[in-house]
Amino acid sequence: MRLIFLGDVVGRSGRDAVYRELPIMRQRYKPDVVVVNGENAAHGFGISLDMYQKLRECGADVVTLGNHAFDQREALVFIERESNLIRPSNWPRGCPGAGSCMVVTPSGQRVLVMNAMGRVMIEPVLDDPFPALAHALDQCQLGRDCDAILIDFHGEASSEKMAMGHFVDGRASLLVGTHTHTPTADHQILPGGTAYMTDAGMCGDYDSVIGMDKAEPLQRFQRKLPVEKFKPAEGEATVCGVAVETDDKTGLALKIAPIRIGGRLSQADVGFW
Ligand code: FE2
Repeated sequence: MRLIFLGDVVGRSGRDAVYRELPIMRQRYKPDVVVVNGENAAHGFGISLDMYQKLRECGADVVTLGNHAFDQREALVFIERESNLIRPSNWPRGCPGAGSCMVVTPSGQRVLVMNAMGRVMIEPVLDDPFPALAHALDQCQLGRDCDAILIDFHGEASSEKMAMGHFVDGRASLLVGTHTHTPTADHQILPGGTAYMTDAGMCGDYDSVIGMDKAEPLQRFQRKLPVEKFKPAEGEATVCGVAVETDDKTGLALKIAPIRIGGRLSQADVGFW
């Protein structure tokens, strides 16, 4: 099975690039499932209903979130109706929406998509993601209850993400990190067969400070005073993500490759599709 994951879509630049490139990727790579992290789509902070719907129309089967999940407060309401929009599963009990969803592909294969958030150097501090994911993976076992499992682990610390990768190794098809907005070069298949990448990188303008126009972050680092609001950088975005091919019998990963299309970063094509 072919899985594609795209990292955090930041602002208009990121949205426009994904709206433009995702239909082309669907044609070219013929993925079975595409998952996109949309938590920074709305000017860097959260996601609106129309942005979610446009991502779905352009080819995203599932949209994941993170610490900015509910910055656009309308998301507290529409996430209850939109079952393919998921927020971190370790949000304390009572949070609107769900932390996972099951996608059934046109060929009838079942793909579980989960979202969870780390707790190191990131706010808000949610429930412990380790038992949350262990419980979910016990409930839905790879190769028995579904054909693939894709986990977006939204966190700041590479240590916590690597630990989580090893924690789910052999029980998920892919664990990919999000939130730092910087793609890492450690994409690999772990010993137990789970594809792993510490961070997918953002879909945004890399002539920036993690997707934001440079001026305000630079002055805040120096003067420790806010002057203006953060606003997304507006240059051409690089669409960043990861592609994984899984074994149809086991659901484990066979191949993994980074994706980087457009913008300033060196380009990376899947190669094996
Ligand atoms: Fe984030």
